[in-house]
Amino acid sequence: MILKQLYSSNDFKKRGHELIDLLANHIQDTTSGTNPKTISWNEPDKELSFWEDFLENGKEQDFFEEILNRTTHIHHPKYIGHQVAPTVPITALTGMISSLLNNGMAVYEMGMSSNAIERIVTEKLCEKIGYDQDSGGFLTSGGTLANLTALLSARKAKIAHDVWQDGSTEPLGVMVCEEAHYCIDRAAKIMGLGEKGIIKVPAGENFAMDTDKMEVCYQKAQSEGINVFAIVGSAPSTATGAHDNLENIQEFAQKNNLWFHVDGAHGGAAIFSEKYKGLLKGIEEADSVVIDGHKMLLMPAITTALLFKEKNHSRHTFSLKADYLMDAPEEDEWFNSGKRTFECTKNMMAMHWYIILKVYGEKVFDDFITRQYDLAKDFAKMISDKPYFELATSPMSNILCFRYVDDKLSLNEMNTLNQSIRRELLEDGEFYLVQTKLNGKHYLRTTLMNPFTSIEHLQLLLEKIKNSAQKLLTQHIS
Ligand SMILES: Cc1ncc(COP(=O)(O)O)c(C=O)c1O
Repeated sequence: MILKQLYSSNDFKKRGHELIDLLANHIQDTTSGTNPKTISWNEPDKELSFWEDFLENGKEQDFFEEILNRTTHIHHPKYIGHQVAPTVPITALTGMISSLLNNGMAVYEMGMSSNAIERIVTEKLCEKIGYDQDSGGFLTSGGTLANLTALLSARKAKIAHDVWQDGSTEPLGVMVCEEAHYCIDRAAKIMGLGEKGIIKVPAGENFAMDTDKMEVCYQKAQSEGINVFAIVGSAPSTATGAHDNLENIQEFAQKNNLWFHVDGAHGGAAIFSEKYKGLLKGIEEADSVVIDGHKMLLMPAITTALLFKEKNHSRHTFSLKADYLMDAPEEDEWFNSGKRTFECTKNMMAMHWYIILKVYGEKVFDDFITRQYDLAKDFAKMISDKPYFELATSPMSNILCFRYVDDKLSLNEMNTLNQSIRRELLEDGEFYLVQTKLNGKHYLRTTLMNPFTSIEHLQLLLEKIKNSAQKLLTQHIS
């Protein structure tokens, strides 16, 4: 009978052992750089055809191997693309147990251990931020959702009338640097603030918020009748990795009675780095902080901590009546996590944080973050020493943007050239990096996410880019 077969423990054991062997080889081949490619690029339509055909004609036993062949290898030292962590392999095991046990966590009875573990992990993060015992938080599904949740808490705390209950009765606004991740913009729109309700503070030359401009932006919004209730600092912003000056923002927030939120999805993790935690000065005064586990803390997607200076705020965000789930919705039941999160069901993500702390200790976070930020500085120096490369700005984190330059080319030609270089790199597949546009200029964008990337790898990359540029320029001329 098919249902019995579905749950065959022998079948699970056999497939599981085979998969672990395959993944162990994958870890070896990628981290060592033996595998010649970080990505075997395929056009979307061809990829779609492959999987359509595979469903009918493919061999079941080839499935996992095909997935590996057709996926970007984040564990490869030549992966320097998006801000996604090369997962510590042990967290693939916590991911597996979460998937099998499927305890949805919304109520304590459906995740006793994971609710307790989540409290321990979030308290640890609060302590590292520098919060006191009034603080607390929870884990949720991603930085985007966590930022939205924080802004909902901010509105609840700062706006006198109950928007949650009665709807909005006045124009509301949030201040944020124009360079912030787009999810802040999206959150504000979801909250019904509209375009006018997102007050964009210009960035300075280094792409961080120009905090001298906060006052004028605030005054302008107020004169237009917008009730500004929150300001967001990026730690750092996504495109260039620039850190906003959190101390200045905090002072401004305090003076104007605004909620101060820190989007530390990427670099909030630097609370663990003795060398770089100074970048986050002022974070300890933030009303709320977001830190992604799946970026700089080496965990699988998707797991994000949302921490509050005063944990009470997290309880008031969603006034929810679901009597079949919660007995006493008004009480502080930390162990019923669904009262405070956007999600009802969520995976047992706290295990990823806990297992790393338990098995390896928090020092691994310090070692990793410090190494990657140091490497970006060395990479920047190497780029600056070469006349045919230009940095967008000195890196403040492990995100670094640069472009190939040639003074015989116009801006448009230079943009096209850098776009073509990036396309060649993608199709070649040895390295994986991304791209961004800053002030009209097209840049190659790298995030040094991999603990095995060395300065020698980056040297090879620069050589490769130079060769690619020169080839493209020759083709263009001839
Ligand atoms: C600064 C910042 N905030 C928020 C996000 C969104 O986080 P997530 O991808 O976890 O939703 C990102 C993602 O890159 C980010 O860089």
